[in-house]
Amino acid sequence: MSTTISRRTFVKSVALTAGALGYFGLTGRSPVALAAGPRNMCGFAAPPLDRVRVGVVGLGMRGPGAVERMAKMQDVDIVALCDIRPQGVAESQEILARHGRRSAREFTRGPEDWRNLCQLDLDLVYIATPWDWHVPMAVGAMQAGKHAAVEVPASTTLDGCWELVETSESTGRHCMMLENCCYDFFELMTLNMVRQGLFGELTHAEGAYIHSLVEYMQPQPGQEIYQGNWRIQHNLESNGNLYPTHGLGPVAQCLDVNRGNRFEYLTSMSSRQAAFTEHARLTDNEQFADLPSYRGDMNTTLIKCARGETIMVQHDTSTPRAYSRIHLVQGSRGMARKWPRKGVCLHSKGHRWLDDEEMKELEARYQHPLTRTIGDVARKVGGHGGMDFIMDYRLIYCLKNGLPLDQDVYDAAAWSAVAPLSCASVADRSDSLEVPDFTRGSWRTNRPLQIVDVDPSLLPLLAVSEVGEQLEVR
Ligand SMILES: NC(=O)c1ccc[n+]([C@@H]2O[C@H](COP(=O)([O-])OP(=O)(O)OC[C@H]3O[C@@H](n4cnc5c(N)ncnc54)[C@H](O)[C@@H]3O)[C@@H](O)[C@H]2O)c1
Repeated sequence: MSTTISRRTFVKSVALTAGALGYFGLTGRSPVALAAGPRNMCGFAAPPLDRVRVGVVGLGMRGPGAVERMAKMQDVDIVALCDIRPQGVAESQEILARHGRRSAREFTRGPEDWRNLCQLDLDLVYIATPWDWHVPMAVGAMQAGKHAAVEVPASTTLDGCWELVETSESTGRHCMMLENCCYDFFELMTLNMVRQGLFGELTHAEGAYIHSLVEYMQPQPGQEIYQGNWRIQHNLESNGNLYPTHGLGPVAQCLDVNRGNRFEYLTSMSSRQAAFTEHARLTDNEQFADLPSYRGDMNTTLIKCARGETIMVQHDTSTPRAYSRIHLVQGSRGMARKWPRKGVCLHSKGHRWLDDEEMKELEARYQHPLTRTIGDVARKVGGHGGMDFIMDYRLIYCLKNGLPLDQDVYDAAAWSAVAPLSCASVADRSDSLEVPDFTRGSWRTNRPLQIVDVDPSLLPLLAVSEVGEQLEVR
């Protein structure tokens, strides 16, 4: 039977599994108490902007790429850079200089200096910091009247998810989670195929984050890869799907989650762990060779949707496996899958993968307009093969032209909530748990995400690419 996460259940879970939930602590705020939200942010459009002025917070491995991509867009000004490590700011200033941009104001005076950045006259705070900072920074940005774009996952707790929703609704500021995988080429094409009915009625989908990060997460003594080695801490303290949104986001869009459908309940199971400590032993990294509490290597979570579809989402960042986000969408007339090899099966063609020639025909017919328009330039600019550029371009394009964003705060909340819920389910013998309805009922009437495009003349690119070639959008 499905269980609503209430304070009562929380007390029960804690009693049963003291410590097992780690910092993911579920306090399960009652949606009823929050029902006064003044504005439905699904489909919300803020007034257009002449120029989009951006402050970027968090300039470690991820943040500088965003600086680089946005520096290529004509009507963007990166006016402020913030990191507790001045070196990250200095490196991003160099990126701006390389693009002929004015240097940005610097905020490097400790972990709370981002609050001063939020007081500047700017439009968007772009957040690429460790997970624990996402909610306070996004909330602080919105409370200061700025739109927030925040890296994945937007929150690691249910309370944090609600806080993002409430703040976005009460301030009328966007809060977009930067789920770049929704903008990958095959994922966009799948969405287009779904919208055009190629697969009939959808029944099931699969997504994953299977990506060995052991080398990043097992620094040698004294070494720091993630700042303060923040990521390993999460993996030591919590057992579940810690990073669900890359696999979930694209399939959730296909399934109209929060727009005609919603995640209703989930159940989750983690394997034992062996690969993480094996890697430590094989690389003589004694500090990780005999861990008492590292989470299970493979987590599998099953989500039931209100319209009846099921979703399987997996997480494994320790096993020596080939990279996969699976990305499988199936329906009554066919299915598509991206990993381990792109393929489509159609009822009309029998029980087989389409051959290369047939795939080419399909791709020509169903290519998403976004990749048709800016796919070539995205590949040149790069960022995970171009999807990061498509995401940033579309975000800035929508803000500049006063359009609703493709991903809203309800998506950020629902997709992220799978992390703490999966941990709670794992800790309670895979008990099935209700996924909160962050839209408070408006999922029934919210309009499905459309097949969107951009008009490049409305957000031209100015920069010259690394290879000295003018970037032109067809
Ligand atoms: N979407 C993707 O494909 C993708 C890829 C990688 C990382 N990420 C996400 O990006 C985020 C950052 O990851 P990363 O790999 O760059 O980690 P990182 O540790 O390399 O970078 C984080 C940066 O934030 C800075 N920071 C920490 N606390 C701060 C504070 N209070 N104020 C200002 N700066 C602060 C750190 O000094 C560091 O430079 C994470 O949320 C991660 O999940 C997303």
